[in-house]
Amino acid sequence: MNVMLPPMGFNTWNTFGASINEKVIMETADAMVEKGLLEAGYKYLVIDDCWSEYERDPVTKKIVPCKKKFPNGMKYVSDYIHSKGLLFGMYSCAGVRTCADYPGSFDHEYLDAETFAEYGVDFLKYDFCFMPATENGPMLYRRMGMALRACGRDILFSACNWGVDNVHQWIRSTGAHMYRSTYDINDSFESFTEIAASQIDNLCYSAPNCFNDIDMLTIGMYGKGNVGNTGCSDLEYKMQFVLWCMYSAPLMIGCDVRNISDAAKALLTNKDLIAINQDPEVRPPFVATTHPWNNRCKVLVKMLANNEYAFAFFNMSDRENKVPLYFYDAGVPASSGYGFDMTDVFTGENIGIKSEYICPVVESHGTLLYRAKLVKLPESK
Ligand code: GLA
Repeated sequence: MNVMLPPMGFNTWNTFGASINEKVIMETADAMVEKGLLEAGYKYLVIDDCWSEYERDPVTKKIVPCKKKFPNGMKYVSDYIHSKGLLFGMYSCAGVRTCADYPGSFDHEYLDAETFAEYGVDFLKYDFCFMPATENGPMLYRRMGMALRACGRDILFSACNWGVDNVHQWIRSTGAHMYRSTYDINDSFESFTEIAASQIDNLCYSAPNCFNDIDMLTIGMYGKGNVGNTGCSDLEYKMQFVLWCMYSAPLMIGCDVRNISDAAKALLTNKDLIAINQDPEVRPPFVATTHPWNNRCKVLVKMLANNEYAFAFFNMSDRENKVPLYFYDAGVPASSGYGFDMTDVFTGENIGIKSEYICPVVESHGTLLYRAKLVKLPESK
């Protein structure tokens, strides 16, 4: 199965944790359509951990959906999700138990892949808890990768081993289409900035068919829900989304979309930002500049298709800063006679053709994002 662009969708874990059920899932499916999220590209609705009974069926050995939470079974939920034009995601684990202590797929990989195919599953998140001590990650992800490829249905394989065991070196060979490279996010500025910083040297391991997944978004949670913490401001959520877009990271919404705020909805459905995330060249950004006196201020540059570029200016520090970008550091020296024709992605304002450098003022925890074309400078007389 080819997955050429970063997957987009919604996952239950960040907000709901174990408090999932048929009603929540069906209402979420409705909201994803009504609020324009599906239209913006968020097509996977993924049920995370805690969906099953505590033990497998003793006779068939199959995992059994929790009768209380899903009284009509998973095919019923799957059919409803599909009837809305969405795709259906589920969760299991490479170990004996899942991280929240429900049955995992260890030694049942082929049976479980067949069961997920029967449900009509299109996406499987595969976690890493409770493994036998003598097992190893590459083998277990390979086993489920093989089982999914054989199950008769196209199922996107979303590996989740939190970045341990140098996962970027072997995960692509297991058939995974995306792989979690970090520990769990929580809804705070510290959490998402640390996660982003941890992967800056590993973005070269993100490409079509296997994307570096820096975890589900917390945008719109404002501190509520299962991984709610201090929460973030809308300004900080803007930084989170720009980071995920610049990284070509999978975009999995984690807030309660049934009552999403206008600000979070506008951010998550911003077409120009999503276009940077979904750029067909899928190139990692590079760090073009770090502020000379404050390494909490950085500029990332990402090459896009058609000789276009995205420039993101981040100020993660506690005070306003001027954040310089010398075009020299982006591969365009003054002697080239070229400059960048730049448009502010958030305001839509064209700020003209700039040569040699720009040095915008960025407020504390603020982000500026420009889309630019590399053009020949007009002859100066
Ligand atoms: C792990 C994963 C999370 C979530 C939980 C569920 O911690 O990293 O994303 O799936 O398990 O228990």
